[in-house]
Amino acid sequence: MHSGDDVKPVSVGIVGLGTVGGGAFNLLRENAAEISRRTGRDIRVSHVGVRRDKPGYDLSGTQVSQDIFAVVNDPAIDIVVEVIGGTTTAREVVMQSIANGKHVVTANKALLAEYGNEIFAAAEQKGVYVAFEAAVAGGVPIVKVMREGLAANRIEWLAGIINGTGNFIMTEMREKGRDFYDVLKEAQALGYAEADPTFDVEGIDAAHKLTILASLAFGIPLQFKKAYTEGITKLTRDDVAYAEELGFRIKHLGIARRVEKGIELRVHPTLIPAERLIANVNGVKNAVLVQSQPVGATLYYGSGAGAGPTASSIVADIVDVVRAMGSDNSTFVPHLAFQPDAISDTPILPMDEVVTSYYLRLTANDRPGVLADVTRILSEHAISIEAILQKPAHEAGSVPVIILTKPVVEREMNQAIAEMEALDDVIGKVVRIRLENLDA
Ligand code: HSE
Repeated sequence: MHSGDDVKPVSVGIVGLGTVGGGAFNLLRENAAEISRRTGRDIRVSHVGVRRDKPGYDLSGTQVSQDIFAVVNDPAIDIVVEVIGGTTTAREVVMQSIANGKHVVTANKALLAEYGNEIFAAAEQKGVYVAFEAAVAGGVPIVKVMREGLAANRIEWLAGIINGTGNFIMTEMREKGRDFYDVLKEAQALGYAEADPTFDVEGIDAAHKLTILASLAFGIPLQFKKAYTEGITKLTRDDVAYAEELGFRIKHLGIARRVEKGIELRVHPTLIPAERLIANVNGVKNAVLVQSQPVGATLYYGSGAGAGPTASSIVADIVDVVRAMGSDNSTFVPHLAFQPDAISDTPILPMDEVVTSYYLRLTANDRPGVLADVTRILSEHAISIEAILQKPAHEAGSVPVIILTKPVVEREMNQAIAEMEALDDVIGKVVRIRLENLDA
């Protein structure tokens, strides 16, 4: 059987018809025949909930409600696609859909990172599935990979470029010297940016996605509030250029790593060797590098935002749910990759216990003995220097000094930086960017 001719079609309700919802709506229509060959059933978008008129969509044959809960409470709907975003109404939409016994497909990373534990528990109790491939890395099927493809492995760490807007901004600035806000506006016009763009540039969106990835990697509860989050707004062209000179690229990475004392969960600008494949992921593209045993390093790459890529993941989730419909929920792939009763309480490490290497840039008075003072402070904190570079003076009398260090615990580095900033001959703040070699 490959066509739904003699089987009741699956009814999908879409809540929200913005960039993402509209993309999913169009894709389900355009690829309907191909999709039903994959599922054995026809899939119809029979009801959409939109608060405002949506010119530009052919909604014939689809019920349209301004009350989005009319979709959630429609007895004919089998699967609710939640694509309104946010964590208030969206949370009610998802919880009510579950209570009504409907499967849910969502692209809402903020909702899952903050309330996923209660959402998945409710779904498991009700025997329905909440699918969320589109919530992480747009069109890259990384959730599938983490939950299924790598299921045999012990995951050691992952590092991802998981915000398309931020990567697009950094790429345009680096390659074309464009202005930050100019590029941000373009990302908004292209439908890449979050409703609140600080979520993109301050790393909050990446931390939502990283929180989800870390749970899938290590079988831990979703703990967004414990993620360390640092944005890209303070990066300067000087630092980008000095990093390049030293053989590195600066990328805004989400990193989750299992170490002896717990799990690191952090988003921040990071120097990585320019020769790594992931260092060359540009524009709106996302990539996630996963180091696991026994497979070693694997890398997943593709478009992280926009209507088409996100719709690709939403529709793939719908296909998965349709294929599983009617089975007992014990056969579902667990929401967080591990069985719910096997989720572990491994702690998330506070940032000052994280060990990384560093790029430091300080501005010093051009006087004998300043470098000696700086290196003495580093040595008193047992911090080894990997490289040191003094640049020609920008302004008369002061020089930029760039130092790369070997790995050191963050607490120790914080103290060393405070002591350097207290030196009479160090001007202003020391710039610190973490550095990861990302070697297997
Ligand atoms: N604002 C997000 C990004 C959209 O730029 O990656 C996809 O989650």
